[in-house]
This record gives sequence, structure tokens and C-alpha cells, in this order.
Amino acid sequence: MTEWWKSSIIYQVYPRSFQDTDGDGVGDLEGVRRRLGHLVDLGVDAVWLSPIFVSPMRDFGYDIADYTAIDRVFGTMEDFDRLLADAHGRGLKLILDLVPNHTSDRHRWFGESRTGRDSPKRDWYIWRDPAPDGGPPTNWMSEFGGSAWEFDDATGQYYYHAFLASQPDLNWRNPEVRAAMRDVMRFWLDRGVDGFRIDVLWHLMKDDQFRDNPENPYWQEGDSPIARLIPLYTTDLPEMEDIVRELRRTVAAYDDRVLIGEIYLPHDRLARYYGHELEGIHLPFNFALIDAPWHARKIEALVADYEASLPEGGWPNWVTGNHDKPRIATRVGPDQARVAAMLLLTLRGTPTVYYGEELGMENVPIEDRDALDPFARRVPGHGHGRDGARTPMRWEDGPNAGFTTGRPWLPVGEHPVTVAMQRDDPKSILSLYRRLIALRRAHPALSVGGYRPLFAEGDLLLYARESGEERFLVALNLGPDPISASLEALGLSGTLRVSATGDRESERVVDVVDLRGGEGVVIELDGPI
Ligand code: NOJ
Repeated sequence: MTEWWKSSIIYQVYPRSFQDTDGDGVGDLEGVRRRLGHLVDLGVDAVWLSPIFVSPMRDFGYDIADYTAIDRVFGTMEDFDRLLADAHGRGLKLILDLVPNHTSDRHRWFGESRTGRDSPKRDWYIWRDPAPDGGPPTNWMSEFGGSAWEFDDATGQYYYHAFLASQPDLNWRNPEVRAAMRDVMRFWLDRGVDGFRIDVLWHLMKDDQFRDNPENPYWQEGDSPIARLIPLYTTDLPEMEDIVRELRRTVAAYDDRVLIGEIYLPHDRLARYYGHELEGIHLPFNFALIDAPWHARKIEALVADYEASLPEGGWPNWVTGNHDKPRIATRVGPDQARVAAMLLLTLRGTPTVYYGEELGMENVPIEDRDALDPFARRVPGHGHGRDGARTPMRWEDGPNAGFTTGRPWLPVGEHPVTVAMQRDDPKSILSLYRRLIALRRAHPALSVGGYRPLFAEGDLLLYARESGEERFLVALNLGPDPISASLEALGLSGTLRVSATGDRESERVVDVVDLRGGEGVVIELDGPI
């Protein structure tokens, strides 16, 4: 039997921004529960929630002060249990965010660790003496700018933080830390969650000899300061193999759970997180489409490169956006957002949809000086701000697009798209998502079938998906001008099943497929290729 996460579509909810029900301007678990109907209508299979745990919210929940309690802003454990039960009742899986690399500095573990050099929890974090000149022990930099070392006056040592100083890194070389994190996983697995998306998985291990990271020879004045060093000794260490196996063993003790890894690495290195014998992460996130150059040959090449990198039996996955990156509709434009949806939902592998993508939601412009995001505040002027992609979901006309009766924590923006407006409009992007998802669910060729590249030139990208007797052709126009694609040479004919704007379904296609600017189509073929 195919594992559920292979044929599934995952939907990322950023809980602060999905639906507020208590009027505080921040979304909550009860809000997610009330909106499950939207996800069922859309046809997705699994919901991944960004962190919902107790947190001082310096990094909006990715700084956890208690891994096994719900933050008040999101509700209570009862709310969580109700959400989980309702999701399961509606046939949806629920995936939580696991943040094992670092805690908040308000976590009890760190509180104990910083009490003194002889604290039993001292070695749970990464403490080092100052360099001989009194400065930081190494040149390691924080992803959020500046040194990754913070000096602690009371104990005279530095601690390491890959992100904010208020997010100290745990020491994954310490078996007690690993055991504690296994307990966290079991706590939620026992409650019934269907798996985890693991935050910054490739960061977990750091060099035990504390060598300086090399300078990046390509860095230039004006580039983001965090690109100055190559993170050779702080990320993607060989020791990760062991850790990944251990994480997998923990979920393998339960039926049918999934591990998804957040990993920003080139494909060949990403592939190692599956494990040699697939004993690692089920789905190491593949972010290649997020910043892919929008050219047919480039996209075909990146798909080929990714496919070729996969270990035997390793299952692919695709992502067009998340809470850390500019929204796809802003990056490629509203027309191409439809083409991006077609790619995401017709390539081989599990797709993850970021909330609002199904509406074509765009980034809401937020200047760095108004930013709430700590990344934008600490490294302004380099386009790192993430608030614009995290703005509230737009449900309906009316105040705050139906997100809150209070003052939204981020602006809802002016872009006039809502679920209510698009739901019954066959030409809407929401309808396109629904049609693509329904087609994918109905046809193994599209969900679990093979991928075959056919043609890529200029703005035209053609590929096929096939399984048994089923064959589909995907034809995408990545530019604004009309294109005619000749199928004669390929000897293909078929029936159009999905078009980007919903007005060509059932059209017969013989010899030639005509695509309007920004149009994509999925054609069910009559016979073999
Ligand atoms: C990755 C998360 O996706 C991002 O939002 C967060 O800031 C960093 N991890 C640090 O936890």
C-alpha cells in the first residue's frame, strides 16, 4: 500500500494568521478548527501547523519555552484536542512543527543551564570560553545577523545561537538532550498527531572542534552580511546521519507517521537526509521552486537535477512558498501564480500549499522600519522581511477580511481576493486549485505516477505523468504571449481536463495545443507517448 503522505497534499497553516476567534487580532486553534471546511473543500489531506507552543514570540513561536503546552494566544490543550479530533473526523491529518535546534531563553532548561558552569543542564546548550582576546570563541554568525555567540556575564562564557540571542541552540551531542526531544515527540505522537515538520534540521550539529567558518569568496559589499561566511562547520555535518536515523526510529514506533525536514541545501546534499536505506526523513523539503528562475529550460533542468539526486525509492516533494519566503504570486505575478500552482500540483511528489496561495494572495508591503519580524529588524535593507508573507488569510468582504473582529497583528492588505469571492467563480485561482487537486486525487498517474520530461524551450514547458494505462500531458506557458505547441511530432492527442482559467475543460486536443499567455493545461492523453 502507498503510504498516505506520498499521495497526499499538505497545507501549511501559520496559526497566527489563519482565523482569530477571540478578538485579540491573532489567529488561534479554535479558528483553525472552524475553518477546516475550507481545507476539505479545497481537497487537501494534511495540515501542518507552524508552532503553537508556549513562547515569548520573539520569533513568533519558533522560540519555544515549553514544548508540551499550548501558548495562551492560540488557546488551550482542550482546543488542541478538539482540533485534532475534528481534523481526523474530517479525514485530515495533523502535522506539528518540531523545533529541536533551539529553545527560547525562557525555557526552564536554559534557565537551569545558565545558573552556573556546574549546572546539570550546563551541557544541554553550547557554552564556550571567550577567545584569548575576550571576544567570541569562533567567527560563527547568526542567521539573523551579527555574531552567533552571546556573552553571559554571570558565568563568564558565551553561548551559541544560530538565530536570535533569545534562541539558544541545544547541544545535540548530549544524549540527554536527544532523549528529552524524543519525549517531546512521544508526547504529541501519543496524543495522535500524524507527524512533524522539523525546523532547521540541517543545523542540529555543529563542529566539535569549533573551527572558524571560511569566508565566502563571492561575497561583495552590499550583499547580505549573513552571506559573508560559508557555514561549513555549523550546518549539514556528517553526524546528522545518526540523528536523522534516531528521529525516524522514534516515529517508526507508531503507525503511519511522517517526518518532514526543513532543509535548505543543494539537491545532492538534501538527498542524504532520506538516509542510505531510506531510514531517515520521509520528506526532506525541496524548496527549489521557491526561487527558481521562471524559464522553461531552467525549471526542466531543476526537476531533472532533483529527480536524479533522489535515492532509490526516495519520495520527492515540492513547495512554492512558506512563512519565510515572499509569496509566489508576488514573485512571479498573478498569471504565473496559476502556472506555479499547476507545476506544484502536477509534478511528481508530495506538494505543500502555503495558506493563501490558493487565493493568489500576494505579499502585503511592509517596510523594514515597521517590521515585526526580527530578521527584517536586525538585517534591514536586504529584503529579508517575512511579515509580508505572513499576513492574515482573506476570507470574505468586510472588516479585516473576516480574519478578526479586533485589530489584526499584521495588516490584511488591500489586495481584493477572498475565499468568499472566489469560491463559486469557476475562473478563480481557488477553483483552479480545487480542480487540480480533484484531478490529482482521481488519477494515480498524477499523484503517484512517473514523470517524463518532453520539451522545454522559451516559455513552453511540456511533461507527462503516467501510470499503467493512464497518461497526462502538462503544457505550461511561462510567459505572457500566446504559444502553439505541436503535439504532432510527439504523436499525441487527448482531452483537456484542467485549464488555468477553467474555460477549456473537455476540449479535444489533436496535433496542436494553443496556450494563451500565462496559460497552462492538463490533457488526458488517448494513448501512449
Ligand atoms: C525556520 C523557521 O521556518 C523560521 O521561521 C524561523 O525563524 C527559524 N527556523 C528559526 O527558528
